[in-house]
Amino acid sequence: MTATLDPAAQAILRHNDRGGYTVPNGRVYPFQWNWDSAFVALGFDAFDRDRAWTELETLFAAQWPDGFLPHIVFWKDDPGYFPGPEVWSSGTQPRTSGITQPPVAGTVLRRLWDSATAAGDGEAYRPRAEALFARTLAWHRWFAQYRDFEGRGVVVAMHPWETGRDNSPEWDAPGEPIDVSNVGDYVRRDTGHLDAKMRPTKLEYDRYLALVQYGRATGWNHAEIARSNPFRVADVGMSLILLRANRDLAALARELGREAEAAELDALIARAEAGIGWLWDPVRRTWCSRDCITGLHSGFVTSASFLSFYAGLEDADKDAAMLGHFERIAARVRYMVPSLDPDDPGFQMIRYWRGPVWAVVNWMIGEGLAEAGQKAQAERVRADTRAMMDQTGFYEAYSPIDGSGSGGDDFSWTAAIRLAWAREDERCA
Ligand code: DGY
Repeated sequence: MTATLDPAAQAILRHNDRGGYTVPNGRVYPFQWNWDSAFVALGFDAFDRDRAWTELETLFAAQWPDGFLPHIVFWKDDPGYFPGPEVWSSGTQPRTSGITQPPVAGTVLRRLWDSATAAGDGEAYRPRAEALFARTLAWHRWFAQYRDFEGRGVVVAMHPWETGRDNSPEWDAPGEPIDVSNVGDYVRRDTGHLDAKMRPTKLEYDRYLALVQYGRATGWNHAEIARSNPFRVADVGMSLILLRANRDLAALARELGREAEAAELDALIARAEAGIGWLWDPVRRTWCSRDCITGLHSGFVTSASFLSFYAGLEDADKDAAMLGHFERIAARVRYMVPSLDPDDPGFQMIRYWRGPVWAVVNWMIGEGLAEAGQKAQAERVRADTRAMMDQTGFYEAYSPIDGSGSGGDDFSWTAAIRLAWAREDERCA
């Protein structure tokens, strides 16, 4: 089964494995990150099924009693990262951050289950599937309770880090009212490891820390944060990812014979399908995030905008508009899909989420386009991602202009996507 799977990608996952969880990159991100681990599980599943399930189980072992699943789990101390556990002060064991991250784990769990059953391992993995299903459902209920603006079925992010797209320009205007005057002095570690041109600015970092201080002052009381956080943005990325994950979890519920939970998930899906149009900008004709405080659309075409296909939204007019953006952007860059529209004046080819291409987002976009029958576009996304990996190695992200690496090298989730695709190719061969 492993013959054609990329050995270098496997070696990266093994190397970044800290025993039950995988760090995204040992220097820049030395802990367990939520959505990174979900994608890593997908990669491990290509060559080590048991280890794939363990990755999710270790992540969910840090779940809070109310269903909240943190974005970082600090299993061990590491001085190479800031802000560490003492800054977050979660008061939990293990120590964690107080914000969450894009909910891809439900989708990955379904993939792991499908792969186990296809291999005849379904019965052996059923107890693990049942346990992870219950935990993932608890997390999705937490989103519905604490992060859904006016019952629209969207996800309201309380921190740019929560979206996973830290410095997307989508957060610039909503970030302006954040008071950074009391942030105090601090030493960043990220710019000690990486070129500052690839990272968020000082002002952005001040805002990140001000929001951590705000949440910490509430004792990470998510009800209070939902009422009064200075940053409340319905994130198009998280909203579309949760809709997709709810669909996958509903399908899994049926396979596991959990009809009541399946019906509950169907209701969440229906709520999102009815409300998600709130994130469509009729002027720019794109899916984008929206500030819940001002009601303003960001108006940006980002890579997250293209997740509408992955979410299974079927709307001929909006799909045509998004495919139009796709063709326009595809003619401007060598490698799809840049995290920001290259026609935007704020486009920067190596600065994190203001231009670079991210393999995990491409995986989701590629899946969605293929399922929607847009085979040529899906193939372009996949071929471009592979070409960058071949040319440059497994970087955190890549320049859409020349494919050069941006951010950390030997990056776990990038290697994982390579393996997930290799595994799929083997199955189809
Ligand atoms: C960072 O520290 O840059 C991370 O993206 C936060 O999750």
